Amino acid sequence: MTDRIVLDPFGADIPAESARLRALGPIVPVTLPGGIPAWAPTGYDTLKELILDPRVSRDPRLHWRLWPEVGDHPSWGWVLGWVGVVNMFSTYGTDHARLRKLVSPSFTLRRTETLRPRVEAITAELLDAMETGGERADVREQLAFPLPMRLICELFGVPDHLWEGAGRVVAAIMDTSDPSAEHAAFVQEQISVVLPALIGYRREHPGDDLTSELIRVRDEDGDRLSDEELLYTLLLVIGAGSETTVNLIGNAVVALLRDPGQLAAVRSGAVGWDAVIDETLRVHPSIASLPLRYAVTDLKVGDVTIPAGDAIITTYAAAGLDPVHYGPGAGVFDAARGAEDHLSFGIGVHRCIGAPLARLEALTALPALFERFPELTLAVDAGELRQVPSFIAFGWQEVPVRLRG
Ligand code: HEM
Repeated sequence: MTDRIVLDPFGADIPAESARLRALGPIVPVTLPGGIPAWAPTGYDTLKELILDPRVSRDPRLHWRLWPEVGDHPSWGWVLGWVGVVNMFSTYGTDHARLRKLVSPSFTLRRTETLRPRVEAITAELLDAMETGGERADVREQLAFPLPMRLICELFGVPDHLWEGAGRVVAAIMDTSDPSAEHAAFVQEQISVVLPALIGYRREHPGDDLTSELIRVRDEDGDRLSDEELLYTLLLVIGAGSETTVNLIGNAVVALLRDPGQLAAVRSGAVGWDAVIDETLRVHPSIASLPLRYAVTDLKVGDVTIPAGDAIITTYAAAGLDPVHYGPGAGVFDAARGAEDHLSFGIGVHRCIGAPLARLEALTALPALFERFPELTLAVDAGELRQVPSFIAFGWQEVPVRLRG
């Protein structure tokens, strides 16, 4: 068997790492930060097959052989922010369906469309501030971050005084570069302060927001939603609803500014913004890899048998860059290729519920940004851009631009 490959906890060069893994076979044993063993599918077909296989679970309590010993490994504590939560993300079968159903109707295409005026208004406000702020700007800090953060906080009725805390929790969970027990304790502490504060605030000040709605469900029928599930559902949706879209907008801006030919094709209308978004998600997916799924029974993948109870990560970046599926130029950003079949929102029962919202935000912010600043350029060499410290999140820490030529 192939030796375990240690994944870079900083995610410094995710495409190169994906290629190295792919050369070893369709699924390879890896070590996650802190020493957690898992399997990594390395290509599109294998990933899709595993995600859709009902013998692959998301519930560590039922199906991860190492779950009982997580507490014995202080350096594994970081993963609890992902798998120690009890919400739709880490449940299986009927529990998953029950928890998903409480939230998903609020994020259908139709419901999302009603948010368009608000998305446009926030975007315009942020661009106005950028325009009056000088010659240079950071697209991440001034547009890509505040737009989804404000929107998700408004939807969930997060009061202003908790926004900063919510942002801190999400950033700490995404950062996989420090698998120390201290970092894990910091994450748990932040979760146990910010989320109860949100729930407490909305119990006292119920409103027309999704947190208040979930609290009502909880209070009316504890069988549909327990206190713990309420807290972790809010954590999931606020986390998933912000950082991912931040990186989608930042990654698309960088991709276009790096390639004048692509930008010209978009500006001329030869290529649509929808295609830019799909190609960004394929080549530079906001979520490169996601912990964890588990084999419910022994699973045969090619010549390899994944023993029941082993953990598996889902590897969206590797799938998007797979030359078997996308051809020898898979690594090249080409919005005209038509990559709607990318897996970067997931597929199957756990498919991202926020995909329409993320798309609406990016489809609003990107054209507006390039229209407002027709001479936009990167203010640093592309090689100087720094990836966020994570093997999960895939995006730029800053996107410095010059607004005028
Ligand atoms: C570019 C933006 C986004 C990307 C790339 C993204 C990606 C993903 C991925 C890869 C998954 C896991 C799918 C799987 O396990 O197979 C997921 C699940 C999820 N996403 Fe998103 N997401 C984005 C935006 C959002 C937004 C805006 C929300 C806000 C509601 C959201 C909420 C969720 C939730 C609740 C789940 C869990 C679904 C489940 O397990 O049943 N996401 N997303």
